Amino acid sequence: QTIAILGAPLDLGAGRRGVDMGPSALRVANLNAKLVSLGYKVEDLGNVFVSQQESSRIGAAHARYLKPIAATCVELAHKVERAAGQGKFPLVLGGDHSVAVGTVSGMAQHFRKKKQKLGVIWLDAHTDMNTPDSSPSGNVHGMPLACLVGYGPKPLTHLYGYAPKVDAKNVVLVGIRDVDLTERPIVKQSGVRVFTMRDIDERGLRSVMEEAVMIASQGTAGIHISLDMDGVDPDEAPGVGTPVRGGFSYREAHLAMEILSDSHRVRSMEVVEVNPVLDTANRTALLGVELVMSAMGKRIL
Ligand code: ARG
Ligand code: MN
Ligand code: MN
Ligand code: MN
Repeated sequence: QTIAILGAPLDLGAGRRGVDMGPSALRVANLNAKLVSLGYKVEDLGNVFVSQQESSRIGAAHARYLKPIAATCVELAHKVERAAGQGKFPLVLGGDHSVAVGTVSGMAQHFRKKKQKLGVIWLDAHTDMNTPDSSPSGNVHGMPLACLVGYGPKPLTHLYGYAPKVDAKNVVLVGIRDVDLTERPIVKQSGVRVFTMRDIDERGLRSVMEEAVMIASQGTAGIHISLDMDGVDPDEAPGVGTPVRGGFSYREAHLAMEILSDSHRVRSMEVVEVNPVLDTANRTALLGVELVMSAMGKRIL
């Protein structure tokens, strides 16, 4: 199979700058050649356009840089949709997590044309289900999942003219340990399934991931993996803008990817929130590439 790599160097959705260097850091970590070594054909389609922060208008304080973020997501969605339509596996390199609005919208539209649905597994410390009204920060990277299940600003919820992009009952969050008080009612109302770090500690990651795959597969044609590197413990992945203690261990992160790979249901993936400015010697991007490899079928033996 062919993997279509798309960089989305977006930093407008995050509170701290430097995530726009994420796609470069992942490529420097030898992503493309490593995927070739797994037997894939790799087409790097380059980066989508992102307007420079210095020349962008912030707009409303409760959804900063909404317009330029939406413009980037539209371009990303179309490129993801086209790649999927050509039978390729879209792999998106973020960028802050707002890029998920583009990636998931593109995949959802691809399946919608065939009257099929998409499931999403979202690995993250955060639920990213704020709306402009609930967000304490106004940072759009705290809102993409709400947008994808239909809550939020129209330019993001209604990409392609319809909402929601995914049915909340096919959305699973894993690794959650930091949800804003004002965000909690949205998470509960929405109907998405949340596996917190506590669930992982009590049940074990294998049991949680198996249930996650079942929920995301129920009535869907495939699964999208949205991997926020801050889901991993900051000891392993320090190069992120919003670190939270108590994340996936190195081994849990790999196991999660291996279980997803074994499911044969994964149709697209994104790796987001890699911030080289906050990293040590590209450690977080190197781990990101390792996790992509596990998700794409790398095995120990
Ligand atoms: N909940 C916080 C906010 O809305 C943090 C969001 C972090 N999101 C992320 N993709 N790292 O500002
Ligand atoms: Mn996060
Ligand atoms: Mn928080
Ligand atoms: Mn996130």
